[in-house]
Amino acid sequence: MAEPRGSSIDGKLAEEFAAPSHVDEVKEKMSAFARRHADAGRRVVLITSGGTKVPLESRTVRFLDNFSSGRRGASSAEYFIDSGYAVIFLHRHRSLYPYTRMFLPVNLLEALQFRGGEGASGNTGEVVVNQQLLPNVGKVLKRYNEVKEGGLLLPIEFNTLSEYLHLLKAAAQELSSIGSLAMFYLAAAVSDFYIPASEMPEHKIQSSNGPLQLSMKMVPKILSPLVKDWAPKAFVISFKLETDASILLDKARRALDAYRHQAVVANILDSRRGHVVVVTPDTQTELTLNEEDAKNEVEIEEKIVSNLIFAHTKFINQPIG
Ligand code: PMT
Repeated sequence: MAEPRGSSIDGKLAEEFAAPSHVDEVKEKMSAFARRHADAGRRVVLITSGGTKVPLESRTVRFLDNFSSGRRGASSAEYFIDSGYAVIFLHRHRSLYPYTRMFLPVNLLEALQFRGGEGASGNTGEVVVNQQLLPNVGKVLKRYNEVKEGGLLLPIEFNTLSEYLHLLKAAAQELSSIGSLAMFYLAAAVSDFYIPASEMPEHKIQSSNGPLQLSMKMVPKILSPLVKDWAPKAFVISFKLETDASILLDKARRALDAYRHQAVVANILDSRRGHVVVVTPDTQTELTLNEEDAKNEVEIEEKIVSNLIFAHTKFINQPIG
């Protein structure tokens, strides 16, 4: 008998990836958030951001990780909000976060000082910000508070690959109720390999047993059920990262052919901050930062977001056929 669509990935998710205990609670939050904004005529984008952690032991001492800082996801969230979207920010715990991302390299204690300086009034009084070390902090704080008051940003954290997969599935199912008003912007760098829970040693792997050989399974391609089954009316963008520029565009096209979603943002590891190509079934658009952009501190994410919002509008307005 033919298997119902998507059931093999659903089965694999249930059997081999432990669901986070709070998944139902998160589902409710996402559902209410999507409903509230869609009822107000606002579009909702689900952004995934950061890398996934793949444990090697059940009581995890060691894990595999990747390079992603979460900068693309965090900065994109700000540009989407500025353009009128509400954002569900599904991000790796402690990866870059919208607004605070600008201040992370700063040592917090260096950036604060006692009003009146060291030694004044016993130093138990008011603490103020050193504006030279945190330029624009007032402007960013104001925006952050506006976004908070408007309830425009719903942050959801993941750590492991399992959490990521279950929470993305939950998000897709909850956002399906708002149809084409939903956008998926899958900027997270997701591991392609994992060790199933049933094959993972419980305790710390012992180096006294000699060199370690790992056998890892392929992570199910989550884009497939997302596009076909979980959120079939949504506007879906995946990302494609390579280190070899000669295969990048071909891989992006193949992803579009395989999953039938709306766009792939293709980038090369070393140049990702200044150059990407947005590939759709009919177009290929290069987005690049020029010298003028660099002088004005324009970020590539501003251009990516603007390009995709334009495409999303066309997608929403296309005749249903
Ligand atoms: O975070 P930064 O340091 O700013 O870097 C940004 C970035 C380089 C991570 C980002 O621009 C990027 O390219 N992200 C995708 C990298 C990637 O893992 O590509 P992939 O070929 O493995 O996956 C393809 C797409 O499917 C991605 O959109 C991924 O989020 C998604 N995917 C992949 C596997 C899987 N099991 N589930 C998924 O959802």
